[in-house]
Amino acid sequence: MMPHPTLAARYPTPEAKPAFVNRLFDRGARHYDTVVGWGFLGSGAAYRHRTLLQHGLMPGDHLLDVACGTGLVAAEAAKILRTAAHITCLDPSAGMLDVARTKLAARFVLGRAEALPLADNSFDFLTMGYALRHVTSLEETFREFHRVLKPGGKLLILEVTKPAGRPGGFLFRLWFGRLYPWLTRLFTRSEGASDMMFYYWETMDACVPPATVLAALAAAGLTAVRRDVVLGLFSEYTAVKA
Ligand SMILES: C[S@@+](CC[C@H](N)C(=O)[O-])C[C@H]1O[C@@H](n2cnc3c(N)ncnc32)[C@H](O)[C@@H]1O
Repeated sequence: MMPHPTLAARYPTPEAKPAFVNRLFDRGARHYDTVVGWGFLGSGAAYRHRTLLQHGLMPGDHLLDVACGTGLVAAEAAKILRTAAHITCLDPSAGMLDVARTKLAARFVLGRAEALPLADNSFDFLTMGYALRHVTSLEETFREFHRVLKPGGKLLILEVTKPAGRPGGFLFRLWFGRLYPWLTRLFTRSEGASDMMFYYWETMDACVPPATVLAALAAAGLTAVRRDVVLGLFSEYTAVKA
């Protein structure tokens, strides 16, 4: 199952999605940190750090950060692990990886979540921050996560989820669907950056409900599957490989 239906205005077929998404992040890469910095009022680093700690990342763990982007999750993980030597950062966008490489001395791998070029049973902890909407198949992705985790290994997926209620939904649409991309254009003067943020909204709007994500995690053989929600907006999906 796709995390959202094909967005025909963006790419014509499901097969064309990876190339489209790659171009989008390659073009937006150099603005990404600035844009998510002010868009979330500078809370991103503290939130990522607290969430990693809360869900059990510990010194000594070998971490795989899938869809590492510019390294915002991995950089916080390195503070907790007190080293980046045990961190593998994976992303299909060379542009995003180039920015991440400037921040930490981790292992960097060009690749996609649906076909991880990594050995079975090799990680204690796997993270994916704000990227689940970009994969082409939830089943393939979660099967791969299950495969590369060690027995007892933990999974943490961070997402922004559209609120179900009306007032929250209206404000969410106003911010993510209108103001955020427009302000991005105004401040960065980059069409690539604002397009990245318009697409961010389009995929959140079209995304499958959390129950579907939870069911797909369980169907992949993961256990202790759950979703915690912060401020009615931030989804933290967690699971364990038995
Ligand atoms: C919104 S950024 C998130 C970056 C970072 N994890 C964070 O917390 O800010 C989404 C990232 O997902 C990556 N991505 C897109 N398709 C992917 C796929 N199929 N597998 C893994 N990563 C993917 C993009 O290249 C981009 O770097």
